[in-house]
Amino acid sequence: MLASGGGSNLGAILAYLRDTPQAPYRVHLVAADRPCGALERALAAGIPSATLADARDGDAMVQLFGTHEIDCVALAGYLRLVPMQATVRYAGQMVNVHPALLPFHGGPGMYGRRVHAAVLAAGDRESGATVHFVDPHYDRGAPIGWARVSVEPGDTPESLAARVLVAEHYLFPRVLHGLTAGAIQLGGHGAVIVGAAATALVTTPPAGVSIRFA
Ligand code: GRF
Repeated sequence: MLASGGGSNLGAILAYLRDTPQAPYRVHLVAADRPCGALERALAAGIPSATLADARDGDAMVQLFGTHEIDCVALAGYLRLVPMQATVRYAGQMVNVHPALLPFHGGPGMYGRRVHAAVLAAGDRESGATVHFVDPHYDRGAPIGWARVSVEPGDTPESLAARVLVAEHYLFPRVLHGLTAGAIQLGGHGAVIVGAAATALVTTPPAGVSIRFA
């Protein structure tokens, strides 16, 4: 896992794995480009962690992942562009969660509060979280799935962020389950193949959250 922030998605993934022992993945490493809550959560959970000396050094990143025998990379609250060496090495096995319904409200600089402020400024009636494959550009990899929530009258960026986070925390761990089980695959030309074993994982979303796969 790559992180830069509080690590709430890491927390959600660890909770999911605790409740779902049959999930075919575990968190073997948390790497961050800065000291952050996600590293503290990893430490508390006894998970190996690392601070990247230079987040632009793709060779070092691939070597770090290799040392820890990483098969799949999850970006959760990671704010840096992933170097090409890593996105190529992990093509089809690197995914990111974005707190809006891509392709809308994504791209460079679109993270955190700014995303939700943009959704509100656009007058959108709904928002949510997108999990997508990572390619060499910000938030432009092939989308895998969306977890939609409503935008409520009187919403602030903070109230919307909190509602979207619930959607993220439901979708992300389950997409990682589908991906590592081989039920979600990146096909040729950016096509995403989602099998029944993946859709079977998202049958009980939280109230107000609706899931759609690519
Ligand atoms: C989340 O909103 C996520 O969508 C975005 O970064 C935020 C913080 O994630 N990528 P976390 O709480 O650090 O997991």
